[in-house]
Amino acid sequence: MSEVAPVRRVAVLGQGYVGLPLAMRAVEVGYEVVGYDTNSTRIKSLAAGESHVEDVPDSVVASALATGRYRPTGEESACAGFDVAVITVPTPLREGVPDLSAIEAAGATTAEHLRAGVTVVLESTTYPGTTTELLVPILDAGSGLEAGRDFQVGFSPERIDPGNPIWTLVNTPKVVSGIDDASLAAVGAFYATLVDEVVPVSGPAEAELSKLLENTFRHVNVALVNEMAMFAADLGIDVWESIRAASTKPFGFMPFTPGPGVGGHCLPIDPSYLSWRVRRRLGQSFRFVELANDVNDHMPNYVVSRLVTGLNSRRKAVNGSRVLLLGLAYKRNSSDARESPSVAVADLLLGLGAEVRAADPHVVEGKGVDASVVRVSATVEEAAAADAVILLTDHDDFDLTALAAAAPYFLDTRNRAPGPGVERL
Ligand SMILES: NC(=O)c1ccc[n+]([C@@H]2O[C@H](COP(=O)([O-])OP(=O)(O)OC[C@H]3O[C@@H](n4cnc5c(N)ncnc54)[C@H](O)[C@@H]3O)[C@@H](O)[C@H]2O)c1
Repeated sequence: MSEVAPVRRVAVLGQGYVGLPLAMRAVEVGYEVVGYDTNSTRIKSLAAGESHVEDVPDSVVASALATGRYRPTGEESACAGFDVAVITVPTPLREGVPDLSAIEAAGATTAEHLRAGVTVVLESTTYPGTTTELLVPILDAGSGLEAGRDFQVGFSPERIDPGNPIWTLVNTPKVVSGIDDASLAAVGAFYATLVDEVVPVSGPAEAELSKLLENTFRHVNVALVNEMAMFAADLGIDVWESIRAASTKPFGFMPFTPGPGVGGHCLPIDPSYLSWRVRRRLGQSFRFVELANDVNDHMPNYVVSRLVTGLNSRRKAVNGSRVLLLGLAYKRNSSDARESPSVAVADLLLGLGAEVRAADPHVVEGKGVDASVVRVSATVEEAAAADAVILLTDHDDFDLTALAAAAPYFLDTRNRAPGPGVERL
């Protein structure tokens, strides 16, 4: 077995929500960091000191550049000479099937620059088996070396929670794994320089599954309260009050809140990686995941059905009504509109003939948002001019007191707007 190289140079492949904070931290602790990304627009803005990730202010990117130890680049060759390579590329679903092409491509890039003694870590969320069955063969074939004998490989799931000011990359314990003891030691030693606590597990599959367990746990519990919210509304019970009451139990209960559906990557996509794997490998369905998908995917339809009923009771048809959506991001104070339920709500309303307007100060691009959705600011005038306002994302910068007071009909899917006239999910 080759010696593990002392770590000086780190390559982070993928400079997105996961890769950029990691690269910044690696610069902060003193490494030379190459941030390689295939998206040239991102690279250009990073090189100009502009961050596209809220949790990483521009000033942090600018300071990292100023050290001379951070190089954002679209050139594969810049990865040469790395001691540790970390892969943080997207793992989407394509028509319900895991698409690991970005891991394959990043693996091939890494393999080209592999030397004996280096360490490669995969952080992208994926089904158990990916590191050993997919990544290792790509690294071996592309480098002519042998994982375990010549270099180290491991998996360490990212637990980043965008917008969370308390739990950061540094103080959130990090699960680490390796394909063998030497790999586990190398991966653990590297992350110990970046985070407060590392949690070693016996192999990559256990680490891969732990991440999917965390996300599936949330997905299933969110589905549980969403289904309960729908029944409670029909029964005339305030589900929010019941959740508050249940949360006073000091043990055995953890509160989750209903909403217009789930978005981002973690909840709508990751659990399906697991159910796909279970079906592929064992021929069985992962019933909890499928049920949770079903309930959570249906929530935008439920929100729209509530709006239709609310407008109807005000003698209005949704067709021709002006509806103001507050929030396009899937999550509070985030600019991330990936898989956002707001997009589904907008599409459903447009399909019913509504005039849809949307306000979200965080979402600039609004990828996936239909072009006929008019982008506006969340002003009292906009709320007053609408037939209905729906709060979908509870960004802190919405003045909900004023907006709810001005709106003729205000549907709150987050239980955040005050006032007796507000209808809650
Ligand atoms: N965003 C989160 O909160 C979060 C949390 C935990 C885990 N994850 C997981 O981390 C992974 C990355 O997620 P993200 O949110 O950072 O995605 P992202 O889309 O923000 O960033 C990924 C980046 O990788 C780049 N990329 C694609 N192919 C590449 C290649 N071959 N080489 C180099 N760069 C390439 C993309 O251009 C993009 O900039 C996913 O598997 C995701 O499930 C995300």
